[in-house]
Amino acid sequence: MKKSFGFNKEGKEVSLYTLENEKIRMLVMDYGATLVSFVDKETGIDLVEGFDCVEDYMKQDTYIGASIGRTANRIKDGTFSLNGKTYHCPVNNGPNCNHGGMEGFDKKLWHAVEEEDSVTFRYTSIDGEEGYPGNLFVKVVYQLKENGISIVSEGRSDQDTLFAYTNHSYFNLDESENAMDHGLKIYGDQYALSDQDGLTLDEVVSVKNTPFDFAEWKLVGKDINEDNQQLRFGAGYDHHYPIKGQGLRDMAILKGKKVTLTMRSDFPGFHLYTANWLPGWKGKRGHNYPKRSAVCLEAEYMPNAINYPDQVQPVVHAGEILKHEIQFLISHEK
Ligand code: BGC
Repeated sequence: MKKSFGFNKEGKEVSLYTLENEKIRMLVMDYGATLVSFVDKETGIDLVEGFDCVEDYMKQDTYIGASIGRTANRIKDGTFSLNGKTYHCPVNNGPNCNHGGMEGFDKKLWHAVEEEDSVTFRYTSIDGEEGYPGNLFVKVVYQLKENGISIVSEGRSDQDTLFAYTNHSYFNLDESENAMDHGLKIYGDQYALSDQDGLTLDEVVSVKNTPFDFAEWKLVGKDINEDNQQLRFGAGYDHHYPIKGQGLRDMAILKGKKVTLTMRSDFPGFHLYTANWLPGWKGKRGHNYPKRSAVCLEAEYMPNAINYPDQVQPVVHAGEILKHEIQFLISHEK
């Protein structure tokens, strides 16, 4: 089902699509190919933060629910080289380029096709957009699964270029104003250090005996206020966890009072972000979104990987397809 969700800054109509099955109701919009709502029908809880109209999305700059690209997270100094040529993306976050540049995929109006259990969004990012080489044809498919949502992203280009997608949903599984009382388990025992500007470094260390250890269940906020340089740099958790293995695999589980959410993906890892910079938006149906009211589990390549040759490279080669999947699945464990 499709309905109007307002107008973008060029005056074009933005549409909201509703898909549902027995257990899930999912709302997505073509502005930013964004996940607007993810309702667990058994409890009636909407698991993601969002807004009631596109105009409210356009007022914020925290990427709520959006598709991110061409490159998720930061590129150092907005500079990278590919095939011996140096490229520059706009610096929009301290000294670095974050989440695709000044106007990333999150602010674009995508072309949408609705089917019974999916919506396919397409966007063409032209050669040179935000400094990136090559025309990049992007497809993002949101599909209902029996117990959750699958997000498949695909990039194809006429030149070698970067494509490092993620979905930037902010989860609060209790519809509360504080997600720090959620349980979290991460299927990894290492994380990457960041610098003072939040740039992920090519330095992967053990989580053992640090606040970053979620190998066993722990409340998200249990150690978040510890005196720790990495937590100070991020104003909380804002760090990449590489997850061993390949293919679709469980990466993290987040547990609210009634709902448990498993994030699975075939990306190399994910970014744990505890919404440290949410300024207190007024969201859907009058809900408030203060700092730390949500947890983001952003499956992705290692941030700045293009500048770290030993890491898996987020490069789509000319004429090839780079495809990844992210799944958010729910259960009701006690
Ligand atoms: C980044 C944060 C940033 C947030 C919203 C996250 O992916 O790592 O540093 O504040 O997105 O932009």
